[in-house]
Amino acid sequence: MRFFLDTADIEEIRTGLEWGMVDGVTTNPSLIAREGRSYLPTVREIAELVPGPVSGEVLATDYEGMLEQGRRLAELGDNVVVKVPLGPAGLRVVQTLRQEGTLCNVTLCFSAPQALLAAKAGAAYISPFVGRVDDIGGVGMELIAEILTIYRQYDFETEVLVASVRHPEHLLQAALLGAEVATIPFGVLAKLYRHPLTDIGLERFLADWQKTGKTFDD
Ligand code: E4P
Repeated sequence: MRFFLDTADIEEIRTGLEWGMVDGVTTNPSLIAREGRSYLPTVREIAELVPGPVSGEVLATDYEGMLEQGRRLAELGDNVVVKVPLGPAGLRVVQTLRQEGTLCNVTLCFSAPQALLAAKAGAAYISPFVGRVDDIGGVGMELIAEILTIYRQYDFETEVLVASVRHPEHLLQAALLGAEVATIPFGVLAKLYRHPLTDIGLERFLADWQKTGKTFDD
């Protein structure tokens, strides 16, 4: 299972890379706006920093505009994946960019039929937003299960990129279902390392050895 970091914060990305747990990065307009920086230079900097796939999203909503911005995003680096919103124009862009050899991540997916359309268009990734489905009283992980069933049934190559991950339980469920990728906020990645028994256990080990009055070399 690959982990992408869902952020446009360079320091978070540097730390995640140091930890050796970041296989790629996803950004979106909200995440870049939060950094208060210019759009394309931010995507470029992230793409230069991260060896794996980096999703940069188009801001236009019409076919021509999305295509033009998608091509410019793709020029930022070989690892840039163009993120387009679900809809007829977005999925047309996916088909055109695919013919040009550019990978696309179809974002804002909230139903399995939408994911089926994205796979038929030739998306490299589909991003179902589990947290936002939960927010409106649905069960986000059911959406992941449905999409995986459909994709496996027809041998689609589109990878399921579980998005809008809010807590470690989302990641656990995604892994149990066999989703290929999850994109995770830095705070959730940090939480994955933690368990109270790990902290208590370490404290006890060190306290017990300290009582002997000896050091590492004694
Ligand atoms: C994924 O590509 C999206 O950018 C992201 O996961 C959305 O998460 P949110 O619902 O927490 O904003």
